[in-house]
Amino acid sequence: MSDCLFDLHIGYISFRNPISLAPMAGIVGSAFANQYAGDAGLVVLGAFNLDKASIDVASKLAARGRKEFISDEPLELIKKEIRAVKSGSAVAINVRSTALEPLIEAAKIIKEEGAILELNAHCRQPEMLEAGIGETLLHDLPRLSAWIKAIKETGVVLSVKVRANVIDDIELARLIDRSGADIIHVDAAQEGSEADLDAILNYRDATRLFLIGNNSVRDFEAAKDMFSRGADMVSVARGVLENPELIKELVESVCSYQQSTGWYNTPKHVCSDGDFRALAFCCLPVKPCPVHEKYRKLGYTAEEFTRTKLEFSKGTMLEFGEDTCFGSLVWCCKISKPCWIRDGVLHTIDLSDVEYMKLKKQLAEYVLNHARIPVNESH
Ligand SMILES: Cc1cc2nc3c(=O)[nH]c(=O)nc-3n(C[C@H](O)[C@H](O)[C@H](O)COP(=O)(O)O)c2cc1C
Ligand code: SF4
Ligand code: SF4
Repeated sequence: MSDCLFDLHIGYISFRNPISLAPMAGIVGSAFANQYAGDAGLVVLGAFNLDKASIDVASKLAARGRKEFISDEPLELIKKEIRAVKSGSAVAINVRSTALEPLIEAAKIIKEEGAILELNAHCRQPEMLEAGIGETLLHDLPRLSAWIKAIKETGVVLSVKVRANVIDDIELARLIDRSGADIIHVDAAQEGSEADLDAILNYRDATRLFLIGNNSVRDFEAAKDMFSRGADMVSVARGVLENPELIKELVESVCSYQQSTGWYNTPKHVCSDGDFRALAFCCLPVKPCPVHEKYRKLGYTAEEFTRTKLEFSKGTMLEFGEDTCFGSLVWCCKISKPCWIRDGVLHTIDLSDVEYMKLKKQLAEYVLNHARIPVNESH
């Protein structure tokens, strides 16, 4: 598969595809990643424990049978682990600490090694919470924000791993965004066994940060459910333990999906609960429907929204389509929605489905870039 199929870059990091191995303490190290995630765009190793307090907690958990990575020299271990990933996947290091200083030291090394630091605001074993690690950070937002800012000063690419439905997700996404992190990795957990897809949508419409969706993905259909709610990448943990071929299968599927559609994480239409990007598929705003509420949230009036879409279309193939519902392809639906009128126009102007969808993706970015109210301030 071509490594140029996706255009996924954050600072000094490039992902060759949007599938990731999620961290599992004591399990997901370089050996596991090399064996089961050789094709992944990203492997998140860890968690690694950075300070004495987190090492003590991990040792207690290990004593009661949980797998943990424990080392008196965590920075050396992290360096060795990053270097041992031989597959060409980007590497992130999921870390726990009760204090900021060890995080800064780790960030410097992780940056030097060309990897991502992932701050663990996720683990919730009682011993972790008691020591103030993991999910505790979600209940101390000033500390979370201050740590993100301080870690980012090192220049490391920073991901924050959170669990949905613990606190207000929209508020959390915005805080992480405003504090300067690069990636939000969200475990869309909820009561029961299914992932909370609405949570992914909430994060997508609260921030434009790179979003990794996680929870209960065991096949490409489940991954697609997260992509269509706005996840830029999907990560898997337990699914890999159950099916060692899972990452390979997901990578193959997302690559051929991207090849055949041009936009692997196309949103649903706004009237089917699509995120802001779906305004690219909306009709001319002349009839009563959910489009009005959606563009207003971005500070557009109907006239401004119309003008912005037309402005983008000028000089592009989206200008064509006189016979379509609203006189131009710029107002036309997703390619997956059957429409012989649009398809006839595409055929006449010799624009492939993939090129059409790539233009719609650029249009979505244009609409978001020109909004009066940025996504992370919309309401
Ligand atoms: C055995 C095990 C250990 C885990 N350890 C960590 C960890 O150290 N850090 C972390 O952020 N998440 C950890 N997780 C959570 C996973 O990364 C993931 O968020 C969660 O399992 C849901 O995704 P899944 O349905 O693909 O498994 C762990 C999960 C499992 C099953
Ligand atoms: S403008 Fe069209 S696509 Fe958009 S919400 Fe309304 S009916 Fe749906
Ligand atoms: S012409 Fe077809 S694709 Fe275009 S807006 Fe009408 S129904 Fe949608």
